[in-house]
Amino acid sequence: MAPFSIFIFSLLSALLPTVLAQTWTSCNPLNTTNCPTNPALGSNATFKWNGTMADSKIWNTTAGQVQWTDKGGEFIINGRGDSPTIQSNFYIFFGVVSIIMQAATGQGVVSSIVLESDDLDEVDWEFLGGNTTHVETNYFGKGNTTSYDRAIYYPVSTPQTTYHNYTVHWTSAAIEWWIDDNMVRTLKYEDALGGKNFPQTPMNVRLGIWPGGDEANSNGTIEWAGGLVDYHGGPYTMIVQQVYVQDFTSGKEYSYGDMTGSYQSIKVTNGTSKALAEINAPHGVSGHWNALPKTARIAIVASAAGVATLSLLAIIFCCIKQRRAGRREHAEIEAQREKEAAELVEYKRQMADGAFSQSSRY
Ligand SMILES: *[C@@H]1O[C@H](CO)[C@@H](O)[C@H](O)[C@H]1NC(C)=O
Ligand SMILES: *[C@@H]1O[C@H](CO)[C@@H](O)[C@H](O)[C@H]1NC(C)=O
Ligand SMILES: *[C@@H]1O[C@H](CO)[C@@H](O)[C@H](O)[C@H]1NC(C)=O
Ligand SMILES: *[C@@H]1O[C@H](CO)[C@@H](O)[C@H](O)[C@H]1NC(C)=O
Ligand SMILES: *[C@@H]1O[C@H](CO)[C@@H](O)[C@H](O)[C@H]1NC(C)=O
Ligand SMILES: *[C@@H]1O[C@H](CO)[C@@H](O)[C@H](O)[C@H]1NC(C)=O
Repeated sequence: MAPFSIFIFSLLSALLPTVLAQTWTSCNPLNTTNCPTNPALGSNATFKWNGTMADSKIWNTTAGQVQWTDKGGEFIINGRGDSPTIQSNFYIFFGVVSIIMQAATGQGVVSSIVLESDDLDEVDWEFLGGNTTHVETNYFGKGNTTSYDRAIYYPVSTPQTTYHNYTVHWTSAAIEWWIDDNMVRTLKYEDALGGKNFPQTPMNVRLGIWPGGDEANSNGTIEWAGGLVDYHGGPYTMIVQQVYVQDFTSGKEYSYGDMTGSYQSIKVTNGTSKALAEINAPHGVSGHWNALPKTARIAIVASAAGVATLSLLAIIFCCIKQRRAGRREHAEIEAQREKEAAELVEYKRQMADGAFSQSSRY
């Protein structure tokens, strides 16, 4: 889905407060047997983003653009229509997800961490920009949104100006929510409607920011988000410094064996996951260098003298190449800008058409 259509979809389906911007599925295995399999992580992995951008072969941008800086992945609302969001290509089938992050400030601005499965099992952390004392935890089973009584808020000190470690520890027996070294909440399988509302199918990790307090949202959503967003008071920035994920299952991929959505029905395919292969692949110059056998490294060092004579040619080649790359990059940025501008026009048109009149639905 294109960035703005996700946001629009989230607004249209904004029946009630939840992290709607990220809670969608492109194929629900409870309705059809043709859904694609879920690529696994099948291991543990640490993604450090303070100074390194996320690997786009592992993390997909599903809305807007995340800014990668020395601080981490910055999810920024600069103006109306912004809601940068990313999600992991991989899924975990029970495991641990620890996110070290700082939430965004701003009344009505929602920073969120979501674990979501294809059949809409969901585990959430939600941070309201106007609330500097509490964070919301929540969960849903199979997209059952008939009641919204599962959210519980826990104290946390100044989440908008302090990095904290938010951890979900998920097994087939229970889900635990941890803030730093403290376990704040436990949900046992049997306590979630006898397991029926217990998240138990392979989930991916979604991170993003969205304007719960956009005036187009239902009154209930705006109220929950803490009030209207002041788009002139930004930018509002959520910063994710590090993500640790551990998959308790090792395998290549997961699939639904039937339409029950029970964890017993999930099939595990053995092998090395694509995500793990990508994580272990050498990256960048130093990565390539370290991956070379020692003899090759010695040979390269020995020929360094020869390299010196070639350096002039190399410099010339490099600069021509860089200028070409620069032009290409510029063209790409321009294309992206045009695409975003077109989306904004479409977004505004839909708003003008009253596509969002939904206050009666809350
Ligand atoms: C996975 O966990 C093991 C042991 O707990 C650790 O040694 C290793 O560094 C971890 N790998 C990643 C990629 O985090
Ligand atoms: C992620 O992006 C890749 C292309 O880079 C695409 O093939 C894949 O379907 C995307 N996955 C999801 C879950 O959107
Ligand atoms: C923050 O959330 C807690 C829990 O819902 C609530 O008691 C408190 O009043 C909220 N603070 C603000 C400033 O909204
Ligand atoms: C959805 O959850 C509610 C409780 O939150 C429960 O009463 C209802 O039966 C559930 N619906 C389904 C289809 O499981
Ligand atoms: C995050 O918190 C969890 C739970 O307390 C802990 O196991 C993990 O080591 C912490 N991660 C970091 C990087 O501190
Ligand atoms: C998959 O791996 C598990 C554990 O390594 C093993 O017990 C099982 O027999 C394997 N299954 C297949 C189909 O290879």
